[in-house]
Amino acid sequence: MNSDEIRNRFLNFFEKRGHKILPSASLIPSDPTVLFTTAGMQQFKPYYLGEGDAMRDFGTLNTATVQKCMRTSDIDEVGDESHLTFFEMLGNFSFGGYGKREAIFYAHEFITKELGLEISYVTVFEGWDDIPKDEESKQIWQSLGVQDIREEGILDVFWGPTGDGGPCGPTTEIYCKNVAEHDIEIWNIVFNQFYFPGTREELLSGTSEKELKPLAQMGVDTGMGLERLEMIVQKVPTIFDTSSFKKFAFLSTAGSEKIKRRGRIIADHLRTSAFLIADGVRPSNKEAGYVLRRLIRRSLVQAKILPLSLDSLETILRNIIGEYGEFYNELKNQEKIIIDEFTSEAEKFYSSLEKGLKEFDKICPEISNGFYQVGKVISGEEIFNLHQTYGLTIDIAKDLSKERGCKVDEEGFWTAFKKHQRISRAGAEQKFKGGLADQSEGAIKLHTAHHLLLAALQKILGKEIKQKGSNITSERLRIDFSFDRKLTDEEKDIVEDQVNEWISAGLDVVRKEMKREKAEKIGAEMEFGAKYPEMVSVYLIEDRAGNIISKEFCGGPHVSKTSELGKFKIKKEEAVSAGVRRIKGVLE
Ligand code: GLY
Repeated sequence: MNSDEIRNRFLNFFEKRGHKILPSASLIPSDPTVLFTTAGMQQFKPYYLGEGDAMRDFGTLNTATVQKCMRTSDIDEVGDESHLTFFEMLGNFSFGGYGKREAIFYAHEFITKELGLEISYVTVFEGWDDIPKDEESKQIWQSLGVQDIREEGILDVFWGPTGDGGPCGPTTEIYCKNVAEHDIEIWNIVFNQFYFPGTREELLSGTSEKELKPLAQMGVDTGMGLERLEMIVQKVPTIFDTSSFKKFAFLSTAGSEKIKRRGRIIADHLRTSAFLIADGVRPSNKEAGYVLRRLIRRSLVQAKILPLSLDSLETILRNIIGEYGEFYNELKNQEKIIIDEFTSEAEKFYSSLEKGLKEFDKICPEISNGFYQVGKVISGEEIFNLHQTYGLTIDIAKDLSKERGCKVDEEGFWTAFKKHQRISRAGAEQKFKGGLADQSEGAIKLHTAHHLLLAALQKILGKEIKQKGSNITSERLRIDFSFDRKLTDEEKDIVEDQVNEWISAGLDVVRKEMKREKAEKIGAEMEFGAKYPEMVSVYLIEDRAGNIISKEFCGGPHVSKTSELGKFKIKKEEAVSAGVRRIKGVLE
């Protein structure tokens, strides 16, 4: 059974049982608090919370998808037998349509009857703090004759929330044996019974003041990684031995572990890159674009060492598009873009890569044939130089070092990195002091308008929005901020209206000196990566009800009342890079 058949069987199974089959959402989610889509449930968040109407949108309360997912936390592990950055996730979802019994019955039937697999064991939630043990799931599994039911804790069998706030709840997982008789988790069935208004880390800390609230309806959210399932169904030892991977990558089954590892990294990273480019991501130095750049560069390093030519990499990419393009049409439709983007990024990096690898050989030389100075520590400055001069990122340096039994001083690298940032920032500030800073009346007013605009963007588009850059002249302001899509005309109007409402209210602009820690504690906006002194000044603007609408670390100067500003107008809204937008505005 190949991956096409597994996808079809899954979707048909759930379609026959009253589920609407929907396409995968993009790898880049609309939720700005998460960088990538990591699970099938993300596109359905509003339906679990009762904010979306599934009946109206889908004609049913139940849906099923094959979702493109990305998880980058294990990127360094890719190359072993099981880690991937991109994977496909089969999932069925219900927003009040059915509960635990049906969800478990469906999963049991699909695994044991449809796929003919044997369940090794299942897990259920043992309870934590005020959240009770999931007795109901346990009884359902017992009624199905499953003998081995293991109770596990919050870290393993409690899902969510993804991002900053969302549905969450206990899970029950299904394990099957692989060909080597190891138990592999293949299906995670989540019962979204709760809502938590913060991150998973806050929830697990147990000290957050935010409260877990029960949801009005039971939500079901399941996730089954296709690659792992394919591995079990095809009875092969690793995901890289499945028919899907075999079709597109020139993976060596012979050869040393090192050679196998290189092939796997290339296969994984090129597959992920193809999907990211098809979803509109372009290599850059920020956010999703930076992840894409790292993936491309890492695959090039491995290709160079193997060696595998750029033409061969292009062939692998075309094979990937061939293997997945029928199901994910965006790959087929954008074949040329995918190849062009990859090739242009590859060519830019290729010439410096050769030099970078030579430099690395000098730092970490071969003592005799295939032997290196095991245990040698490469200093932070040396790694920073590889990064700065040759584009060999820290993860590439780590990869290369691992192979040679050397270590990298990661902390030292970050110290060097930050020192460099400060030097370039100091350079920019010097220039600023040398006459660039505009302290005209127009610039001062626009400075205050800039604070109001950031506050309005956060209020209307999401509190996670961060300032990424700014520039003010006497004529106009410019703000760069984190946001992953174009603003609609309506959103621009609402933002503009909000700023003008605060202007007309004639609010006081107050400067307060305080210790840096205090300013950080009250959550004053600061520029990412900037270094502030012990005592800082914070500008505060309060609305009439006494709510602070804007608080920013800032040297000023500002007007003292917002009514001095006149009328604010957005002149232009555009992309700066993936995940960063720019607004230019004026006061009329
Ligand atoms: N949301 C369920 C999972 O990703 O496993």
